[in-house]
Amino acid sequence: MNIHLVMEEQAHGVPSARAELLGAPWPSGAVRLADGDVLFGGVRLTEMADAYGTPVYLLDESEVRRRAAAYRTALPDASVHYAAKAFLCAALTRWLDEEGLGLDVCSENELGLALAARFPAERILLHGNAKSEAELSLAVRRGVGRIVVDSFTEIAHLAALADPARPQGVYVRVVPGIEAGHHSAVRTGVEDQQFGFSISDGSAVEAAARVLAQPHLWLDGLHCHLGSQISEIDPYLEAVDRLVDLLAELRDRFGCVLPELDLGGGHAIAYRPGEPSFAPAEFAAKVLPRLRGRCAEKRLPVPRLAIEPGRAVVGPAGVALYRVLAVKKLPGGMRIVAVDGGMSDNPRPALYGARYSAYLVGRASEEPAERARLVGRHCEAGDVLVPDALLPADTRPGDLIAVPAAGAYQISMASGYNLVGRAPLVAVHEGEDRVLLRRESLEDLLGREPGGVQFRAGTPTGTPK
Ligand code: LLP
Repeated sequence: MNIHLVMEEQAHGVPSARAELLGAPWPSGAVRLADGDVLFGGVRLTEMADAYGTPVYLLDESEVRRRAAAYRTALPDASVHYAAKAFLCAALTRWLDEEGLGLDVCSENELGLALAARFPAERILLHGNAKSEAELSLAVRRGVGRIVVDSFTEIAHLAALADPARPQGVYVRVVPGIEAGHHSAVRTGVEDQQFGFSISDGSAVEAAARVLAQPHLWLDGLHCHLGSQISEIDPYLEAVDRLVDLLAELRDRFGCVLPELDLGGGHAIAYRPGEPSFAPAEFAAKVLPRLRGRCAEKRLPVPRLAIEPGRAVVGPAGVALYRVLAVKKLPGGMRIVAVDGGMSDNPRPALYGARYSAYLVGRASEEPAERARLVGRHCEAGDVLVPDALLPADTRPGDLIAVPAAGAYQISMASGYNLVGRAPLVAVHEGEDRVLLRRESLEDLLGREPGGVQFRAGTPTGTPK
């Protein structure tokens, strides 16, 4: 069970309720009330569904801040760059800035959004295996702190764009040859994939040499990113060993001592009760001594550590709320519970076979929990959100279903499939709610089409020219 503690009459502002504190995969502080509702960031999920409609995503600001702060506490001397690909919006950049984090971006628009939200450029790191000239140029012009180079062509382009008056900080992304991560699609520490320069064939040394040869590029350090959903620390220890060896080789060959070492992100979270998650304090307790020890062996000064967690900062702070639209029983006995979202707001189950847990919210059912296949509303049999959900036997149309641990790689990977319109995102914080991203409307969709704006939602006025 994911219920850790029973609290009586303590649920924020709900004095007569008997409430249970929910544990992972819910964020700390999420409370199940006696009437079956859940308090999330101090607000009732049923009220959020009524106010904003479904599907809707909620993000608990305190949980994001708590998680960001936990990294800063565990690693006070490291740079912690939040990986914006997990999810990005202007409000989030402000919370992260206030918590002292940097930002890892990997597209012109991620960079543009961060800059528009006035995130300090020197704390931004630009990634990408195929950066456009526009991205590189924007990054250089706006004074982005580090650009992580990923190809020889890019090094040449960047050298041409760099400002002689202000050398551009650069990391070289290397492939350490370490296998880690939840799915082959996200394993980037291994050979035979498109990211980074291989250590094994000498490309990483060659890339460093080319950066060092450019007077307006400043080689600040090495970077690697192993993969995603890694709960063990061992792969990071291996990465330290291989990258420190490479730092020593660069020192021996070129006389350069690089001041920084970026170990990327990939820190796991629990999607279901009982699953392991990554602990920043354990990471610090193991990685820092290993780094110091290996550097001492190689007689290198200890570089400043950098990390890039994405999922572990926002994932557990999010919940997706859906309304049940249909329930049916298949001939083989399987119960199908269909909700009003699906693979357009969460493509992870379809893409990676990612597993989630689902909860009935808003009424207390006395019925036993039984297996059900929680499916979406899209036109594919593969639109399955949770193949083995445990939901009360009387789950019916109109019920609310919550899927926790929904804060990472869902809104950021949401698609326009079936033109359902992307779901809104509402921030909740100490009992208050505010919209961070509104629901995508028919007008938004028509607005992308030449002449489409002539159509107001529901009142077409003519054929677009
Ligand atoms: N740094 C780099 C260079 C990355 O490529 C990534 C993720 C991160 C940091 C952050 O990784 P995190 O801490 O969030 O695991 N869509 C997939 C995950 C793709 C991750 C891509 N790179 C999923 O939903 O599982």
